[in-house]
Amino acid sequence: MSMDRFARAASIDGKQFAAGLLERIKKDVEILKAQTGVVPGLAVVLVGDDPASSVYVASKHRQTVAAGMKSFVHQLPAETSQNELLGLVHRLNVAPEVHGILVQLPLPVHLDPNAVIQAIHQDKDVDGFHVSNAGRLFTGNPVLVPCTPLGCMMLLKDTLGENLSGLHAVVVGKSNIVGKPMAQMLMNAHCTVTVVHSQTRDTAELCRAADILVVAAGRPGLVRGDWIKPGAVVIDVGINRIQDGGKSKIVGDVAFGEAGHARAITPVPGGVGPMTIACLLSNTLTAFRGQHNLAIAA
Ligand code: GUN
Repeated sequence: MSMDRFARAASIDGKQFAAGLLERIKKDVEILKAQTGVVPGLAVVLVGDDPASSVYVASKHRQTVAAGMKSFVHQLPAETSQNELLGLVHRLNVAPEVHGILVQLPLPVHLDPNAVIQAIHQDKDVDGFHVSNAGRLFTGNPVLVPCTPLGCMMLLKDTLGENLSGLHAVVVGKSNIVGKPMAQMLMNAHCTVTVVHSQTRDTAELCRAADILVVAAGRPGLVRGDWIKPGAVVIDVGINRIQDGGKSKIVGDVAFGEAGHARAITPVPGGVGPMTIACLLSNTLTAFRGQHNLAIAA
């Protein structure tokens, strides 16, 4: 395929896909309520008043209620001690009306996020961050998996079809929240997977070999047009606020304007972002089914 400057990559509409997913979740909530007599419930814990986190938590609450589920938001002061936070997590672990628990990150610096995450019961860990859920994903028996890479997989399969076997996937970034679980999910889908990160020596050349390029680096415009193989599918996980001509705007980690020769690419905003909360609610239903011994939907 030529790097034709008139080529036009398809835009992967995450906003529309997420809206469809939320509709399916809403219907599933009704079915599960009828089957069990119980309303699925999600608890979200926010410590402190970080403005970005407050916006995310408010959005999670709104969408949880809109899907017909119960939403329990616990807002704690920034001075909350580790023991107080662990006490709340333990109460939520045994609360029968709570099927999923999410502690919004980042936590204030005096708190240990890992200890808090590992204190969440694995069956209620809708972030998929608990070591036993990470281990299940690692060994190819995933149950609850991190929401952002789950959303990326859904968009990839919607674009390329269910069968990703044998494709070369390159993941940029190796965080526990996105890069590492993304690489595991792609391996479980029988892709050949390369992970590159800030210490990689030949990042551009490795990216150019990708049929699937997933970028979660948190660096605006890091991936340039000549890092993208013609016909590749590009998933841009980046959400970066930048100043452009005196105006503030949100951009991804990929130089979107240079990616016309890709087969398809997620825009920012409107690509991966809207998928994350929809996947959180999907995980809450997975957790609910697990706790009621119902079959986990494919
Ligand atoms: N803060 C930013 N992203 C996330 C996420 O996926 N889960 C949690 N718990 N906190 C976050």
